[in-house]
Amino acid sequence: MKLTAQRSTLRSVKSDAVAIFIRKDKQFFKNDLRHAVELLGARFDHAIEMEHFTAKEAELLTYLSDKKTAAKRIYVVGLGEQKDITMEQYRRAAAAVARHAKSAQVKKLALCLPERSEDGTLTTTDTVTALAEGAILSVYSYDKYITEKKSNKKISELILVLSSLKDVATANKSLHDARIVCDGTLLARDLENAPPNELYPETLADAARSSATKYGYRAVVWDKKKIEQTGFGGLIAVNAGSDRPPRFIILEHNAGRTDLETIVLVGKGITFDAGGISIKPASGMSEMKMDMSGAAAVIGTLEAVARLKLPVHCVGLIPATENLLGGSAMRPGDILTHYGGKTSEVDNTDAEGRLVLADALAYASHYKPKVVIDLATLTGACVVALGSHASGMMGNNDDVMAQLKAAGEKTFERVWQLPLYAEYEKQIKSDVADVKNVGGRWAGAITAGLFLKKFIGDYPWVHLDIAGTAILEEAFPYAPKGGSGVGVRLLVEFIKQWKS
Ligand code: BES
Ligand code: MN
Ligand code: ZN
Repeated sequence: MKLTAQRSTLRSVKSDAVAIFIRKDKQFFKNDLRHAVELLGARFDHAIEMEHFTAKEAELLTYLSDKKTAAKRIYVVGLGEQKDITMEQYRRAAAAVARHAKSAQVKKLALCLPERSEDGTLTTTDTVTALAEGAILSVYSYDKYITEKKSNKKISELILVLSSLKDVATANKSLHDARIVCDGTLLARDLENAPPNELYPETLADAARSSATKYGYRAVVWDKKKIEQTGFGGLIAVNAGSDRPPRFIILEHNAGRTDLETIVLVGKGITFDAGGISIKPASGMSEMKMDMSGAAAVIGTLEAVARLKLPVHCVGLIPATENLLGGSAMRPGDILTHYGGKTSEVDNTDAEGRLVLADALAYASHYKPKVVIDLATLTGACVVALGSHASGMMGNNDDVMAQLKAAGEKTFERVWQLPLYAEYEKQIKSDVADVKNVGGRWAGAITAGLFLKKFIGDYPWVHLDIAGTAILEEAFPYAPKGGSGVGVRLLVEFIKQWKS
């Protein structure tokens, strides 16, 4: 999808469809409507009179134009009450339009940027970014393996129509950045949705490497021998039940720069989680192809951060393996020695994510990071607690968590803190090792977080449990069911705004 901003008018913009956004507000309603009424006249007056259109969030009317516009189709779309309008309402409204346009085989879609509100809560950059995100992310589908393609329905160009020339440069810069962040998100979705016979540790590493080559950042991939020699006992143990070898993927933007602060991102890369000997129930198990969503978010973020040339040294660490149950699989009762020397008792082989993250988190110290953030589809308990509308957040640094919270509100990839109180620790106390990998029925997301905390180094650290937000059981306004690509927009925004 080509993205452009131009100073133009609804009448003259060369497109197949134009969309007019309408705010429900005394001051704006009339202004916004003016365009619609000008173009649609009595037809639209009627809709207003009959309250067929009340400018509710993402409410959409479609009209065929009677030659007053170059475009054949006119969309009128609601944004809801002015006082409630954030970037998210723009995303959802643009998503409604784009999905409609796609199914109507619109090729060139023009969106008319509403004039700015005086309260100035949203900048031109915010509005343009949100419109682009909503349009781009909503039309995604994973159809690689569908052999009978549903015709070639694809919006080829998105045009932002601005009334003032002075905003065009700002809008084009925003579109450029939004495209990059959305590409990262869509890459993450593709990796999540890929079937586990296509996407396994070696091919996940290949995907990371080709992104790195394409966009000029560094990728180093360790094979099984190197992982063993380095002493990643968790990754090796989880991999033992699988015929496919593990990989440890190291991505680096601005590698070797010593003048920049270092952020390390760690992503859980379980390319399929059958649970191991503590096998999962059959129903819904195929979802566990997305147990590498943390890894997908890290790869998508590194790609975006590199393309945006953000002034940080950003490192991505991904322990990748399947969790299967072959004849040499790890057993409940096994004791593992992780990188750095700490030991864990395996009480349940299905709590494998924390075992591979333990090695990576301990290893992260080598980069002398100013902050380490890990992302993992770690626990069903987090899904029970928060569902799919917030990722669970735990950590040892309130300042970093506050910054992530703010980035989450802005991107609508929201996070919610759970406590790592010391009292929960006795649930993961082991009689035979430094720590046990499960903590019983209660507070499962927290005991998983506390397990990870045992392995971190001397750095500010935040853990994001994305089990509920990465794997969508139903469609969202701009994400279909399946992998959501969550984490990319959140982390890029966090890194852009980050203050140590
Ligand atoms: N990958 C799962 C967690 C998960 C569950 C992610 C549902 C997404 C949706 C993880 O490896 C796991 O199996 N966790 C166990 C831990 C338990 C054995 C302590 C769980 O949550 O049941
Ligand atoms: Mn598991
Ligand atoms: Zn898992």
